[in-house]
Amino acid sequence: MKPVKVGLLGLGTVGGGTVNVLKRNASEITRRAGRDIQICSASARDLTQPRICDTHGITLTTDPFAVVEDPNLDIIVELIGGVSPAKELVLKALENGKHVVTANKALIALHGNEIFAQAHKYGRMVAFEAAVAGGIPIIKTLREGLSGNRVEWLAGIINGTSNFILTEMRDKGRAFADVLKEAQALGYAEADPTFDVEGIDAGHKLTILASIAFGIPLQFPKVYTEGISGITPEDVSYAEQLGYRIKLLGIARRADKGIELRVHPTLIPAKRLIANVDGVMNAILVKGDAVGPILSYGAGAGAEPTASSVVADIVDVVRALTSDPENRVPHLAFQPDAISDIPVLPVDDIETSYYLRLSAEDKPGVLADVTRILASHRISIEALIQKEPAEGASSLPVILLTHKVAEREMNAAIREIEALATVTAPVKRIRMETLK
Ligand code: NDP
Ligand code: HSE
Repeated sequence: MKPVKVGLLGLGTVGGGTVNVLKRNASEITRRAGRDIQICSASARDLTQPRICDTHGITLTTDPFAVVEDPNLDIIVELIGGVSPAKELVLKALENGKHVVTANKALIALHGNEIFAQAHKYGRMVAFEAAVAGGIPIIKTLREGLSGNRVEWLAGIINGTSNFILTEMRDKGRAFADVLKEAQALGYAEADPTFDVEGIDAGHKLTILASIAFGIPLQFPKVYTEGISGITPEDVSYAEQLGYRIKLLGIARRADKGIELRVHPTLIPAKRLIANVDGVMNAILVKGDAVGPILSYGAGAGAEPTASSVVADIVDVVRALTSDPENRVPHLAFQPDAISDIPVLPVDDIETSYYLRLSAEDKPGVLADVTRILASHRISIEALIQKEPAEGASSLPVILLTHKVAEREMNAAIREIEALATVTAPVKRIRMETLK
């Protein structure tokens, strides 16, 4: 049989890794796919740059549109990132009758509904396993392996860069900015690393996971996102003393009145498996009604772990080349006409427990004022530590863990606490989850 011809857009970390994996494992991959897979052409901005892969035998160009216009290609693999020109290239490739594989979570989270409609119109596939959690096959797990379940919730460490930073801060006391630089050098970070540290990249991935888990449209603007840039070494240390770890979690949960979609730093009990997922590793905990909880774990970023997912998608597309579009696995797991309009809840409506860190004057009655305010909002305290003031300081840190309460109520209580004359700095709040 003739080889399947592939065009690559992007020859950076993931593009280079994809070339390497496809070349190194060519015979194993052919035995699985049933056809040879040949990378015929590839584009990059600057062809004089050194590459991590051997591009021998691949026609190189600086014009990605020339690749998607090539009538000889069957599959386009988009590994440029960002929205433009990636979106135009993907839409054009589909219009030209090509199947698409992409690792671009921003593109799918923001424009996936339009892209899947275009794929549907032209009877083509868009595969995006590498867009979530690098090398972990979580899309396939959710979309196919768990299709008998009603998913109740999922919670994941889905940004490798943030997890790497939090781990290095905790284990080695390294400074945030220094670890971020290393993550960039290792090829983990996004082109704009604020996407990693401000929770946006995790929000893109959560958008995709939630759509597949619950059969809802992709709706990134409704995801609450908060990153790790405000986490201090003190918070990491106090959390440890209380038996918790701080992780940047993406959480999607079916609540009574809608779906919670949120990304934020989260205290989780140190004894949970997911609390011990360190460095660039990712993990996603999914709770299905039939299977119970399952945990998927693996490298969340990096050239070859991500290439592992890209190549698996290429193989899936090759296997499905001859199937009728109606008989393929739907892009978002649920049939397009069965997507639900269940609402996404505003963050004010979610309920969690909280870690609060206050900076208060060392005077009698301060704690009584704080606990009175919390009680007036029906917020009960689970644990409290009051530290000695640092040498020469007039304020002392007070750390409180609360029971579950609605975010709206907690916001009101924090406003009142911050208005106390004896409270000397904004209250630091980190949400907590038991993940039981
Ligand atoms: P890189 O920056 O390493 O590579 C991007 C490639 O695209 C480069 O070859 C670059 O050319 C080319 N490129 C960039 N901008 C343009 C443009 N405007 N027009 C044409 N070509 C362009 O990115 P990554 O490989 O890290 O990421 C690629 C995609 O994979 C992104 O969507 C990212 O979010 C996703 N991803 C990345 C992971 C990782 O670990 N890095 C993990 C999972 C997903 P040149 O080389 O000449 O500059
Ligand atoms: N920047 C992303 C991360 C790459 O650190 O997780 C993988 O999607």
